[in-house]
Amino acid sequence: MKRPYVIIFSTITVDGRLASATGFSELSCHYDLTRLRLLRGAVEAVMIGASTALIDDPSLRKRLLPKTEKYYRVVVDGTLRVHKGLRLFREPGPQVIVLTGSDNAEKIRQLEKAGAKVHVVGKDGVVDMKEALRVLAEQYGIKSILVEGGGRLNYSLIASRVVDEIRTTITPYVFGAGTSFFHDPAMKGFPTTREGPQLKLQCVEKCPCGNCVHIGLKVLDTCCKPLLERSPIEYCLSEKLRKIINDKQKAQK
Ligand SMILES: NC(=O)c1ccc[n+]([C@@H]2O[C@H](COP(=O)([O-])OP(=O)(O)OC[C@H]3O[C@@H](n4cnc5c(N)ncnc54)[C@H](OP(=O)(O)O)[C@@H]3O)[C@@H](O)[C@H]2O)c1
Repeated sequence: MKRPYVIIFSTITVDGRLASATGFSELSCHYDLTRLRLLRGAVEAVMIGASTALIDDPSLRKRLLPKTEKYYRVVVDGTLRVHKGLRLFREPGPQVIVLTGSDNAEKIRQLEKAGAKVHVVGKDGVVDMKEALRVLAEQYGIKSILVEGGGRLNYSLIASRVVDEIRTTITPYVFGAGTSFFHDPAMKGFPTTREGPQLKLQCVEKCPCGNCVHIGLKVLDTCCKPLLERSPIEYCLSEKLRKIINDKQKAQK
């Protein structure tokens, strides 16, 4: 099966939350935002879940030091809840691809009219992640993709064994409730460490802000080989981030 190299990147609290119970998720320092944009620059597509699209309303456009011209914005939306009022559709930018498990012809027509390419890759509101990634690889030639959450999308991908790397920045906050980094809506998850993915630590670094930790892990037991043999970008990025921010500050003086 052809599929892109998949990197999950999220910024979490020390209790492993992406967002609080109210949906608040502003956790990143400016180094971490730069890290996110560098990662976007290294891949050919970025992916988010429908709830992140609706709650955060991101444009997903900003990339740093792009290694490729090719860049798509992908939304996984099982029941087609996204709409043309979102920045993804309102603001000009790279092609938006919606992957869905719904065949609602009227909703599909509306999203296509707003400029999106819509693919039905599943049924009854459930997206088949392997099929979704195959479409991205074969129809769009996407070799690498950055997944920016949220927790349901992250879980759905890791449970389908199609994730190659997990990168996370752990920030000095606690929410106590809210959305977990990986969230199974069926509330089953992996019963023990044996059923969960096998991960190998590749990088641990203190964020240049001095108050966060960034870690990068390689997933060892994926379902099948991705189109790229290795990561499109190094795991530890702090030195690069320091330089980018220093250069920016110098240029502003
Ligand atoms: N701190 C961070 O780095 C970070 C990053 C991103 C997001 N967030 C936060 O995370 C929260 C959202 O996370 P979330 O877990 O609630 O939602 P999410 O993962 O963004 O989106 C969930 C939705 O995606 C669709 N989806 C995902 N996997 C699917 C599958 N296999 N089949 C069909 N549909 C699938 C479904 O859409 P349908 O409901 O339409 O079926 C599902 O309800 C927000 O508060 C956001 O601010 C934080």
